[in-house]
Amino acid sequence: MINCNTYLTQSLIADDLVLKDKNVIIIDILRATSTMLVALANGAKEIVPAETAVIAARASKGRSGSLLCGERNGKIIEGFNLGNSPFEYTPETVKDKILVFSTTNGTVSVMKSKHSKNAVLASFLNIDAVVDFISGLNEDFVIVCSGKMNNFCLEDAVAAGMILILLFHLNGKSKYSIDDSGYAAVKLARHLLAKAGENHSERIHDILKKTEQGKFLALLGFQEDLKLCSEIDSYPHLPVYKNGIIKLKNAFESEASEKSKMKRVNIHKPKSADE
Ligand code: MLT
Repeated sequence: MINCNTYLTQSLIADDLVLKDKNVIIIDILRATSTMLVALANGAKEIVPAETAVIAARASKGRSGSLLCGERNGKIIEGFNLGNSPFEYTPETVKDKILVFSTTNGTVSVMKSKHSKNAVLASFLNIDAVVDFISGLNEDFVIVCSGKMNNFCLEDAVAAGMILILLFHLNGKSKYSIDDSGYAAVKLARHLLAKAGENHSERIHDILKKTEQGKFLALLGFQEDLKLCSEIDSYPHLPVYKNGIIKLKNAFESEASEKSKMKRVNIHKPKSADE
């Protein structure tokens, strides 16, 4: 039996130790986990999450050529290079760049996972990649919905419910033991997506338009972000948070295989005369 705990807002996680050694799925549909995925898929080298704007500025100073990214109240932070709209993270802007990122809720959830065993960033844009990864782990896991200003938000809960429903389809419902929050998320997702027919992305777009954060972002002129953030599996990659940075899973893997290749080369290198 696989146990899954769902936190419907990150403020329910009292401290960094709650997620210690856990497998964690972090969700911030509007917009942090969607935007960070787009940035990495478009070639950003890595993302360094930062708790505050001041910490972000300090972290960026030590990383030459890095970009300062993030938002407060949905808008770009004064003095920063980029805000939190996925449309800003084009390949031309982010290719090979280090992004130091601070957002109101999303990066807070990410950083609460700093002692986790595995932490992955989820959105509708990569939901299948997340489900495949968690299914492959075959271990207990936790879903963290970032929520909005310490509160529940609909879009993160729907995504959490959808992840669970997809896992049930893949491996059978009886394999999973879920808590009341997960049960509520599943019921919510089933109810809201019942009208979806074939096109889940369109239905999710309709839902996002009705959410508090969706309406807020639309007022700021970010209507198109809602559409982009609703497109299921449009960026089929897996951002992983490890050792304080976020990279795509395959980037971490190729880095690890490069390192072990180097080690092998060093072992077989003939020793110099004075060694
Ligand atoms: C957050 O981290 O609170 C959000 O991503 C806010 C936003 O949509 O800009």
